[in-house]
Amino acid sequence: MYNQKVLDAFAHPQNVGEIENPDGEGTVGNATCGDIMRITLRIENDVITDAKFQTFGCAAAIATSSTATQMVIGMTVDEALKLTNARVVEELEGLPPQKIHCSVLAEEAIKKAIEDYRAKKEGKTVDKSKVDYV
Ligand code: FES
Repeated sequence: MYNQKVLDAFAHPQNVGEIENPDGEGTVGNATCGDIMRITLRIENDVITDAKFQTFGCAAAIATSSTATQMVIGMTVDEALKLTNARVVEELEGLPPQKIHCSVLAEEAIKKAIEDYRAKKEGKTVDKSKVDYV
């Protein structure tokens, strides 16, 4: 079902965990399966210097989050906002069609974490307990 690259990313995921006092954080749920993804970011001068994820998700969610977090480290927040789940899936050389929805979690959680970062910069408060289903 999964190619070797996906299996490797699942078996040896990178950036698992949580950044303490993150500059941005986002939690989203998958409307299809109900699984949850949380991303925390360290951002310095609008550049993502660290990214970590925690998930109640499947192998595809873990593999795509590991890959997405690796891809956004070093990007500006504007560049990271343009990262699509399709690009992450391409990096992993494909996912089974029925698992594509799992790859949306990382993209959306990264976007939400960047929104949180921008809101904080503007002095706004964000309701962290709210989970958006995507
Ligand atoms: Fe829920 Fe994959 S089945 S994230």
